[in-house]
Amino acid sequence: MSGTSTPTLAELPLRPELVGEIPYGAPQLDVPVCLNVNENPYPPSEAVVAEIALAAAQAARSMNRYPERDALELRADLARYLGHGLAAEQIWAANGSNEVMLHVLQAFAGPGRSVLSFAPTYSMYPEYARDTHSAWRTFPRRADFSIDAGEAVAAVREIRPDVVLIASPNNPTGTSVSPELIMAISDAAPGVVVVDEAYHEFARTGTPSALELLPRYPRLAVSRTMSKAFAFAGGRLGYLAAAPAFVDALRIVRLPYHLSAVTQAVARVALAHAAEMLAAVDQLRAARDDLAGWLADHGLQVAESDANFVLFGRFPDRHAVWQALLDQGVLIREVGPDGWLRVSAGTRQEMQAFKIALTAALDWPPDPPDPQAKETP
Ligand SMILES: Cc1ncc(COP(=O)(O)O)c(C=O)c1O
Repeated sequence: MSGTSTPTLAELPLRPELVGEIPYGAPQLDVPVCLNVNENPYPPSEAVVAEIALAAAQAARSMNRYPERDALELRADLARYLGHGLAAEQIWAANGSNEVMLHVLQAFAGPGRSVLSFAPTYSMYPEYARDTHSAWRTFPRRADFSIDAGEAVAAVREIRPDVVLIASPNNPTGTSVSPELIMAISDAAPGVVVVDEAYHEFARTGTPSALELLPRYPRLAVSRTMSKAFAFAGGRLGYLAAAPAFVDALRIVRLPYHLSAVTQAVARVALAHAAEMLAAVDQLRAARDDLAGWLADHGLQVAESDANFVLFGRFPDRHAVWQALLDQGVLIREVGPDGWLRVSAGTRQEMQAFKIALTAALDWPPDPPDPQAKETP
């Protein structure tokens, strides 16, 4: 007995693999310009806010009851939104695609099993593997962050992973993969393959979705989120499309009533207003392309991006650059390979603030005045 009623973490019998770990998450700092977690910077309109409030009030009237456990109406709405002839039984939904992915690993990975992805990639993946006692394996991307199909297939054949995770567009690099690569990996993979399309709506026009491949690959799943393009990060709704049996596997591991009545109701309102919720996507794609061009024009290396962010570098001391921006009220993300930084696409004013802050941080001569600066955002 330590004799204290408020033990330190070191005094608690934590699982050994969690000792020294810290909770995942980008710093949530109160600064004027937040470009660090790839959110959509445009909030919902007052009309949608009012409908969300009404739906929440309606859900509150039966708050004494558990919510609809299988969220079938919401899943039907998500199926309609995705198209491709999908039905509610082919959709799974949870509190963010983070939870969806945890369900995937709980169902298909676990002790004695392995998860493979292509590094650098989304930094939560190894945490899902750790939390499900699965072995975490990575195969390196090329210098331009693309994946060599031949080498990837050879790695899959050698490692024989139970789950392959492919983020497309990838975070933090923004890189998309081709359907041919997904098909080659799916043909070689002995287990399940999940394509994480969290940023798909931001991809350049004509970029195919892996949803098209679902009818041909019964062990393939495509995960999406309402957090990014859909401007609904606070609503916490992620989802996945796959064969009905794949979804049944996820239903086994989910907690009962995992999606609250409020979450289901407000997500359905947002989906009913899909066009409006997604209205800023084209603007954000243009902001991303403008940002990438501007950074490249200033002699920086820029990763080709199909997402709502840009990875740029390389800096001998990236932390110093990140800090210099933060000192000017602009928060970006120190993530990815050494020397690189990631910035999200934002509003015109946010992009202007970022450019001014980076210009000062790197001691560049100021840009000529922006002729469009007086336009409404
Ligand atoms: C590649 C990727 N997948 C999934 C997520 C998780 O999104 P959410 O849990 O908000 O749906 C993120 C968030 O940044 C991401 O970058």
